[in-house]
Amino acid sequence: MEIILKNINQSLKFANKITKSIKPGVVVGFIGELGTGKTTIIKQIAKNLGVEENVTSPTFVIYKKYRTKLICDLVHIDAYRMTNNSDIVIKEIIENKDKNIVLIEWADRVKMPKKSIYINIQYDENNKNMRKINYENIN
Ligand SMILES: Nc1ncnc2c1ncn2[C@@H]1O[C@H](COP(=O)(O)OP(=O)(O)O)[C@@H](O)[C@H]1O
Ligand SMILES: [Mg+2]
Repeated sequence: MEIILKNINQSLKFANKITKSIKPGVVVGFIGELGTGKTTIIKQIAKNLGVEENVTSPTFVIYKKYRTKLICDLVHIDAYRMTNNSDIVIKEIIENKDKNIVLIEWADRVKMPKKSIYINIQYDENNKNMRKINYENIN
C-alpha cells in the first residue's frame, strides 16, 4: 500500500492509524533515509500506546525499552550504527520478544523475522514536508 503524507500532521495521523495494528508480539521495521520521519512516527505510536517517558532516538545505545499501557513493553531499536555486538543484542530482543512490541529504525540493516510489518518512507523531491510511505503486512 502506498500513501502520501503532505506534512507532519498527516504523518502523525498515519501513526495513529497503524497503532491499531501494533499488538503485543509484533515487530515493525522502519526503512528510510535520515530525517524521513521514522522517529517522529515511532514517538507518536509510543504516545498512543501510553508510554509516558520522552521517547528519544536510541542511536548510540541501540535500543530503549518503555512501559506501555498494555501488558507489554515497547522496545525501540535504532540500527543506524550497527556494531558486531548490536547484531547479537537485536537478535536477542527479537527472539525473546515474547509479547513485547518491537519497533526498529533502519530495519534494512537487521535480520528481521519473517512475519514483520514494514514501513518504508521516502522524501518527495518537490516538497520538503512531504513523504511517500509504502507499507506491508498491516491488517
Ligand atoms: N511529513 C513529515 N513527516 C515526518 N517528519 C517530517 C515531515 N515533514 C517534515 N518533517 C521533519 O523531518 C524530521 C524527521 O526527523 P526524524 O523523525 O528524527 O527522522 P528519522 O528518524 O527518519 O531520521 C523532523 O525534523 C520533522 O519535523
Ligand atoms: Mg530516527
